[in-house]
Amino acid sequence: MSIRYILVFVLGVCSIGLFAQKAVYLDVYKPIEERVEDALQRMTIEEKVAMLHAQSKFSSAGVPRLGIPDNWATDGPHGIRSEALWDEWDDAKWTNDSCIAFPALTCLAATWNPQMAALYGKSIGEEARYRNKNILLGPGVNMYRTPLNGRNFEYMGEDPFLASRMVVPYVQEVQKNGVAACVKHFALNNQEVQRWDVDVVVDNRALHEIYLPAFKAAVTEGGAWAIMGAYNKYKGQHCCHNQYLLNDILKNEWKFDGVVVSDWGGTHDTWESVHNGLDMEFGTWTDGLGAGASNAYANYFLSDSYLQLLKEGKVGQEELNDKVRRILRMVFRTTMVKKRPFGSFGTVEHALVGRKVAEEGIVLLQNRNILPVDLVKVKKILVVGDNAVRRMTIGGGSSALKAKYEVSPLQGILKRVADLAEVNYVVGYEAPPYGVKETKVDRAPLRKQAVEAAKEADVVFFIGGLNKNGNQDCEGDDRRSYHLPYEQDQLIEELVTVNPNVVVVIISGNAVAMPWVNKVPAVLEAWYGGTEGGNALASILFGDVNPSGKLPFTIPVKLEDCPAHAFDERTYPGDGKSVVYSESIFTGYRWADKLKKVKPLFAFGHGLSYTTFQYDNFRANKRILNDGQTITFSVKVKNTGLREGKEVVQLYISDKKSSLPRPVKELKGFVKVALKPGEEKDVTITIGKEELSYFNDVNHEWVAEPGKFEAIIAASAIEIKGKLDFELR
Ligand code: BGC
Repeated sequence: MSIRYILVFVLGVCSIGLFAQKAVYLDVYKPIEERVEDALQRMTIEEKVAMLHAQSKFSSAGVPRLGIPDNWATDGPHGIRSEALWDEWDDAKWTNDSCIAFPALTCLAATWNPQMAALYGKSIGEEARYRNKNILLGPGVNMYRTPLNGRNFEYMGEDPFLASRMVVPYVQEVQKNGVAACVKHFALNNQEVQRWDVDVVVDNRALHEIYLPAFKAAVTEGGAWAIMGAYNKYKGQHCCHNQYLLNDILKNEWKFDGVVVSDWGGTHDTWESVHNGLDMEFGTWTDGLGAGASNAYANYFLSDSYLQLLKEGKVGQEELNDKVRRILRMVFRTTMVKKRPFGSFGTVEHALVGRKVAEEGIVLLQNRNILPVDLVKVKKILVVGDNAVRRMTIGGGSSALKAKYEVSPLQGILKRVADLAEVNYVVGYEAPPYGVKETKVDRAPLRKQAVEAAKEADVVFFIGGLNKNGNQDCEGDDRRSYHLPYEQDQLIEELVTVNPNVVVVIISGNAVAMPWVNKVPAVLEAWYGGTEGGNALASILFGDVNPSGKLPFTIPVKLEDCPAHAFDERTYPGDGKSVVYSESIFTGYRWADKLKKVKPLFAFGHGLSYTTFQYDNFRANKRILNDGQTITFSVKVKNTGLREGKEVVQLYISDKKSSLPRPVKELKGFVKVALKPGEEKDVTITIGKEELSYFNDVNHEWVAEPGKFEAIIAASAIEIKGKLDFELR
């Protein structure tokens, strides 16, 4: 061996020793903040800027020189999206990226069961981890403001308290896999019409009491490591670089220490991005950003133009270092964390979690002695409707999935019925496949065929609703009408004239008009159930599972009963520039409560069971609540029917006297309780001052005003089971 080789060897060993000693950032046993500082001071300015923007459709650069890996994001929020080409949205056509599609988030919210949210988060987190993603683009918690919003199916309903309780376990469980949950779309992204730049005008109370709490819970309780800015504007500034939302509220008030990710194409300005809280820019369409152009990513707002400002000394390094610290923190929490689990993908366990969520989320809206269908008596079943056979994991925008499999409602029914009865299917109405434009068609012949077939059936399952086509439950635009599309109303009306036993199953992520509701014995809201959706539906229809879902939003009789539509077009969809939330804090059931004469078709929190529950002995452990104390309410709930079932006990609070207007009542607690026939359980819910507070927009603080309150125990927003007065001193 020559002396040269020996020298190189010795030097090599020494430098490895030196490196190992000093490379704190590589030491998974060191505190994250120490690792962050160590990595930061090793990086060049170019390496730092490179971390701030995309390098492909879904990835951003790490620091190869330091062995810090790239960041890889994936949609979200219902399953792990298939791989896209490097620079395009197009599918990369992998053969091993077919995921488990979980039910849509509206369905998860309808379970009213935080344990389901935890299971969901755990499973989708495992899928993301297995696919080597460290950012999951979800969950979404924008509040449901209008049933026309094309993306409501990706969110958790109209109530900030319900969404908060559901989002926290989802986020926590995802992140146990070393995958950052990226909660979206922060904030006020409540419509798809003009989503790119509509300026939302909302008062401070509504912002803090209605639109922000679920995000706040995700951050302060769930500990979310990432959040996605929304496309729309607030206070005239795009939400992806919004001083007030991102700096003042998210980062300063809530102490968010994670990464603000732009929505894809939601960044518009370098200066604002540098200063107003954006950390990572994705999906921008800057000039010259044609497909695959070699300098495409250099044109990003947080790329070369930012580097130039830095080099010319026009901006300091403070903001840069803050952004990079946040990204490094996320890396050390995810890809470079100690003992990162390996995850799992497309497993039977995950499919069964999806099925469980779907079964607990399906809402029995109405039932006049027809469900569950008894296969001893019923021998001829007719299934009608395009949604009985349509794949719902396809379409809808960025939440579209390449599912490993998807059991359609018809398949689920066929499998469950087996040879116990005859099952026939007719489509009844035609709906174009996803991506195909709707044309004018004469639907009368299909209706006629369905009506003929219905004459012969013991039971008709009409399986319709919305789908994932444009202008329905689909990103990018809103629905054009509150009514069911494709003349489904007419079809249902015609079916009931020949057969009284028509069970209507709505598959949607949104409320729909139901002008035929009094003519049909049963209505179910079955949501988008994902991979196991059809099996879940069949288990409800035939009574293997007792329904226990409750509506996470109000279903109004007509659109004008919904506050966003009760004014003029300035409140929806806006005048082309802005949209004004004139209803303020009175959204959803708060609006119906306020107006009194507006009766919902089906109320928030409503959902029937195949058994019955009795509420008794509603009581409190005290009637006077001093500052700093909590108060516990209890109620006895008994299963008075013949089947095992689950009931969601809801606690609403009413502020009897307040210096500011307040909703008549607001949800402040709920518990899902399982009861065997005849069984009785004491359900308890504890609340504190926080649950009594409103947001004082003058002093910018939450205030619980001493005085009289009322606790309301209920089975829905309108099914009140008991009331109690108490006082805050
Ligand atoms: C959507 C986001 C999504 C992103 C990436 C955007 O159009 O608004 O929700 O995560 O695309 O697909």
